[in-house]
Amino acid sequence: MATDLTVTFTGLRFENPFLLASAPPTESESNITRAFDAGWGGVVTKTIGLHPVTNVDGPKTKFLRATPDSTQLSMKKRPGTALHSSWNWELISDKTLDWWVPRIGRIKKAYPHRILVASIMAGSGNDEELRAWQTLARACQDEGADALELNLSCPHMDRPDMGSNIGKDSELVSVVTQAVKEAARVPVWAKLTPSTTDIVVEARGAFLGGADAISSTNTFPSLPLIDPETLEFEMNVDGYVSSGGLGGPAILPQSIAKMAQLTHALPDHAFSGIGGIAEFGHALNYFLLGCGTVQVCTAAMLDHAIGPNVLARLTAGMAEAMERHGWSSIEDFRGLRRDRVVVHSKIRRPDGETYRGGYDAEGYAAAETAAAERSTPVR
Ligand SMILES: Cc1cc2nc3c(=O)[nH]c(=O)nc-3n(C[C@H](O)[C@H](O)[C@H](O)COP(=O)(O)O)c2cc1C
Repeated sequence: MATDLTVTFTGLRFENPFLLASAPPTESESNITRAFDAGWGGVVTKTIGLHPVTNVDGPKTKFLRATPDSTQLSMKKRPGTALHSSWNWELISDKTLDWWVPRIGRIKKAYPHRILVASIMAGSGNDEELRAWQTLARACQDEGADALELNLSCPHMDRPDMGSNIGKDSELVSVVTQAVKEAARVPVWAKLTPSTTDIVVEARGAFLGGADAISSTNTFPSLPLIDPETLEFEMNVDGYVSSGGLGGPAILPQSIAKMAQLTHALPDHAFSGIGGIAEFGHALNYFLLGCGTVQVCTAAMLDHAIGPNVLARLTAGMAEAMERHGWSSIEDFRGLRRDRVVVHSKIRRPDGETYRGGYDAEGYAAAETAAAERSTPVR
């Protein structure tokens, strides 16, 4: 009998807990239908807004790659490299709400049992902007969207009342979430930014406003590297660059650190984990910390635009792990390692007899000093 990968998250039933994150893989009807055909449990649409969007000239995403056996990191295409991260400065969807509405309706009619989450974004500076959130929410749910994800986390926005500038202010997070909840008949997920001091503060704001789940994280603010020969940023337009977002393998450890903070502080809430996932071992980190679903972007972009092979690895890996450990559903392993992340002082120290401070550790002293100290017994 096939292993049961279904999950229920914020009251919605998913065929598997793997979603495509809001990004290029979900920017069009054809991509989303291809994703459902490939078997993704759900998709979060590219973020939809009411304000006009014009992207930068040239590439909107680049990939930073490492060369094995060397310290080189570069976006330059070259053979034998390993992916380090994605870097993007793409804005939200440049298609209008009117473009999206019939497409959401058509997709849901064709795939009534697949979960379609509409990602939406507006400002927060005045009542008109809050009403824009409600307009977006109503339009998407009326067409059959199963849930709404609030983009409170886009890292490259000049407007001080939008994107991660909302996500950095717990009161604004709360106000926006509450405004959407007033209009929403479907679950509302708040997608937070990692670039705050304590993400738990903003998560509490979202839950105070009535959020049903937190999605974390969006990309980390970052710049492309400067080419040491040309002295130009590896990605630039007319020599200029602006802050963009880092995704992919490089952010996996940072994103799970954010998730550990969230699930530890708020163990009874729902979380969708995002950041650096390309195979089940990566996703398992998020599940063991307490997430009920996970989302994928960078790895899918590099795999036929919507990640059919990534999904096959995720589902096969989950089925294999469940069989190996004797788990019958995600609830048998969700949160299993949440309580293993503790404050530093709770980590065991060696006892007095064996502890020799930093004296044994190279790196705390010049090699000759360390060697000399090693040859002098300390009592
Ligand atoms: C090119 C690109 C465009 C993105 N656009 C959006 C967006 O419109 N809305 C959003 O919430 N997140 C957006 N993201 C962020 C992703 O959904 C995801 O949170 C992030 O890439 C981390 O996941 P990853 O490590 O799997 O890439 C975008 C990411 C990339 C690379």
